[in-house]
Amino acid sequence: MRLSASGRSWRQWVGPGAFGPAPSRCSTAHPLRLFRRSGRLAHHTGVGRRNTRRMPVLLPVMRIGIIGAGHIGGSLTRRLTALGHEVQVANSRAPETLTELAEETGATPVWARDAAKDADLVILSIPQKNVPDLEPGIFASRKDGAPIIETNNYYPQQRDGLIAAIEDGQTESAWVSEQIGQPVVKVFNGIFWKFLLERGKSAGEEGRIALPIAGDDAAAKVIVSDLVDELGFDPVDGGTIAESWRQQPGTPVYGQHGSADETRAALEEASPERTADWKAA
Ligand SMILES: NC(=O)c1ccc[n+]([C@@H]2O[C@H](COP(=O)([O-])OP(=O)(O)OC[C@H]3O[C@@H](n4cnc5c(N)ncnc54)[C@H](OP(=O)(O)O)[C@@H]3O)[C@@H](O)[C@H]2O)c1
Repeated sequence: MRLSASGRSWRQWVGPGAFGPAPSRCSTAHPLRLFRRSGRLAHHTGVGRRNTRRMPVLLPVMRIGIIGAGHIGGSLTRRLTALGHEVQVANSRAPETLTELAEETGATPVWARDAAKDADLVILSIPQKNVPDLEPGIFASRKDGAPIIETNNYYPQQRDGLIAAIEDGQTESAWVSEQIGQPVVKVFNGIFWKFLLERGKSAGEEGRIALPIAGDDAAAKVIVSDLVDELGFDPVDGGTIAESWRQQPGTPVYGQHGSADETRAALEEASPERTADWKAA
C-alpha cells in the first residue's frame, strides 16, 4: 500500500502533542499536491490569525470510498475533496441521486458495492440498523491494508430498534465489524456533523476539537489519526475496538467536542454500562 505512516512509529502515536511539526512531504512537484498544500494554507491562514501554529499534516492524495452521503458522509465528502483527495461516494440508491453532491465537490458518485474499489481508505457512515443491508464482500476490493473507518452509533429508541448483541454488551463497532466481516476503526461518531464540516483548525490553534480513535490495527490507526489531523482535529487514542464503549452514545466524550486533555479524561471516566436513554425501550 502506498501510504506511509508519516514516518512515525506506532509508539510515537500517543496523541496530538506527539506530532510536532508536520514533515515536509511536499517537495515533489505533483500539481495536485501543490494545489492541496496551497488550498490548505489558504484555508488555515486567514488575515489576523496568530502564526504560532504548526504546519498542517499533509497526507499523500488518497482514493477514499465513502458509503453514506448524509450529514456525516456528505460533510466528509466536502472536506476530503477540498483537501484534494479523490472521493467515490455512495448512498443506498443509484449514483444519479448524488449528482448535486458530485457537482459541488468533484467526488465520483458510485453504487455502494463499488465505493471501496481500489480505495486507500473507506468510510462507512450509515444508520447502524442498515449495516446488514450492505452487499456481502464489498470491502474486499479496497487496497491491501486500507483502513475502514466507521462513524456509526446505535440509537435503539430513536432509529435503529433493538440489536440484541449490542444490548448484551458487544461494542457497537465490534458489531459493525462482524456484520461486514472486516476490521474497523471507530472515529467521528461523537462529533456533530456541522462541527466536522466547519470547525477544523490547525494543530496548536486554540479551541481545536479532539476526536477519539479506537481500533485494533496500529498501522490503520496511524493513517486514520493523520487523516483526523489533516481535517483539523486532534487525534486521541481511544484504545481497542473492545474498549470502544468509552466513546459510544451516553459516555462523557460523546458530543463533548473538547480538547485532547478533556477527551482523554472523558474516556477515562466512561462506564461500560449503557444508560437508559441508550437502551432499547
Ligand atoms: N448526524 C450527526 O451529527 C452524526 C454525528 C456522528 C455520527 N453519526 C452517525 O453516523 C452515521 C450516519 O449518520 P448521518 O447523520 O450522516 O445519517 P443520515 O444523514 O441519515 O445519512 C445516512 C446515509 O446513509 C445512507 N445509507 C443508508 N443505508 C444505506 C445502505 N444500505 N447502503 C448505502 N448507503 C446507505 C443513506 O442513503 P439514502 O439517502 O439513499 O437513504 C444516507 O446517505 C449514523 O450511524 C449516525 O448515528 C451522526
